[in-house]
Parts: sequence; structure tokens; C-alpha cells
Amino acid sequence: MKEIELLQEMIDASSHIVFFSGAGVSTASGIKDFRSKDGLYQEKFKYPPEYMLSAACFDEHPEDFFQFYKSKLNCLEARPNVTHMYLKKLEDAGKLSAVVTQNIDGLHGKAEVSCVYELHGTIYENYCEKCHQFYPAEIVFECEGIPKCHCGGTIKPNVVLYGEMLPEDAYNGAVLNISKADLLIVAGTSLLVEPASSLVRCFQGKHLVIVNLDETPYDSQADLVIHANLEDVFRQLKV
Ligand code: OAD
Repeated sequence: MKEIELLQEMIDASSHIVFFSGAGVSTASGIKDFRSKDGLYQEKFKYPPEYMLSAACFDEHPEDFFQFYKSKLNCLEARPNVTHMYLKKLEDAGKLSAVVTQNIDGLHGKAEVSCVYELHGTIYENYCEKCHQFYPAEIVFECEGIPKCHCGGTIKPNVVLYGEMLPEDAYNGAVLNISKADLLIVAGTSLLVEPASSLVRCFQGKHLVIVNLDETPYDSQADLVIHANLEDVFRQLKV
């Protein structure tokens, strides 16, 4: 594919690459995305999916929130795929400055990429709302009903829910790295969720590349758009 050769040339010519990922990066690891035709949002839930994943639902209907969270967002068994592993190689080669991700599945970390900004948090951190005691994800996913701390407080996953702010450190790190990057590869994201998607606007480098099955609102601004399966693209790329 001509586009893959072009992307390879851009990667070869770049030394401060930032990779901005969304749920589509993890579908090859068996995790559903949200908005594509096979995505989670195509399913019927008690409330609209955006509400199921909101701070309001967590506060008003915690049973429903945790029923959804535990049945739909449990990806403890998922393993990194070819795209995650390619990024690890790129980092080892000193060409990748950072991964900025909207994913909460921890797969970039499992692939041992060290510089990862998790804009929407992670399922692997959970804290008691009352006493702030840390709990591993297994406790939350494997308990019955609402996960409770020894002190009686509810254990809250450190995942950014609709209605909540993004974590400041992750957001600032993302802005800094994207604004200094020479190549920004945006992959597996519909770029429909703010404020994450607007981070693309911080990029001032040479090449903006979008790799995604479906179209995104930023396609017209990109230097290269590849509408293909990420696995097919990254399997062919060299470091
Ligand atoms: P979306 O589900 O909105 O978008 C995923 C995109 O990935 C879609 O446009 C698909 O076409 C594409 N895609 C899926 N599999 C692919 C593959 N194998 N190769 C190439 N492209 C593929 O997911 P996000 O943009 O990540 O928030 O969604 C953003 C946020 O919305 C999520 O972080 C989540 C959700 O509410 C939280 O969990 C807080």
C-alpha cells in the first residue's frame, strides 16, 4: 500500500514521534471500541451508554454503574497486540517521545512503553472515596455488587467519567509532548470526544497522520489518512 510506504518515510525522517491512541488500537486485543459498528454503544443498556459511564450515574445509580463497568470494561485478560508492540520498539529506538491515550485498558503499559499519558485514567487504579485506600482492579471486577472499602466507603475506579475533568498531569504532559512532536500519529479514535480530540490542535510539527477504519472530523487537516486496520498497517512498518 502506497500510504504505508509514505508513513514509513515519515517515521524514518522523525525523531520526536507522538502516538495518540483510542479504543481502535485495542480491538485487535479483543476489547470492543465504543462508536464503530461493532462498538459497545450499539448495545442496549438500561440508560444511554454516555450516562452509564458518567459521574452522575456513579452517584445516582451506583448498582447500575458497577453492573455496566464490571460486565463491559473488564479487560484484565487482554494482551498487547502488534500496534502496542511496534510502539515499544519505536520507544526503544529513541524515536517515540510519548503515547497519549484515551484508553483505560493499560495495554500500552503492558507492552512496556514507559512514557504513556492516560487521559481517561486506568482500570488498574482504584481508590476508596472516603479514606483513599488503593485497591487493585481485581477487587473491583470480582466483588459482588458495589465494591466497598474496609471503612465502608465506595471504591471508585480512577477512570474519567463523563462530567469529570481530565487528570491535570496527563493532560499537561500530552499538550507538551504533542506541541513538541515532529510527527503525530493519531490512531484508532473517532476523535469525537472532547477535550481529548482537541489535543490534535496543539500539534505544530511536520506531519499529522491519521490511521482509522472510519472517517474522523480531523481527516481534512491531516497530511496522510489511512483508512485501514491498524494491525495491517503496523505489521508492515519497520522501526
Ligand atoms: P471510538 O469507539 O469512538 O472510536 C474508535 C475508532 O477506532 C472508530 O472510529 C473505529 O473505526 C476505529 N477502529 C476500531 N478498530 C480498529 C482497527 N482495528 N483498526 C483501525 N481503526 C479501528 O473510541 P475513542 O475515540 O477511543 O471514554 O473514544 C473516546 C472515548 O469515548 C473513550 O476513551 C471512552 C468513550 O466514552 C472513557 O472511557 C472515559
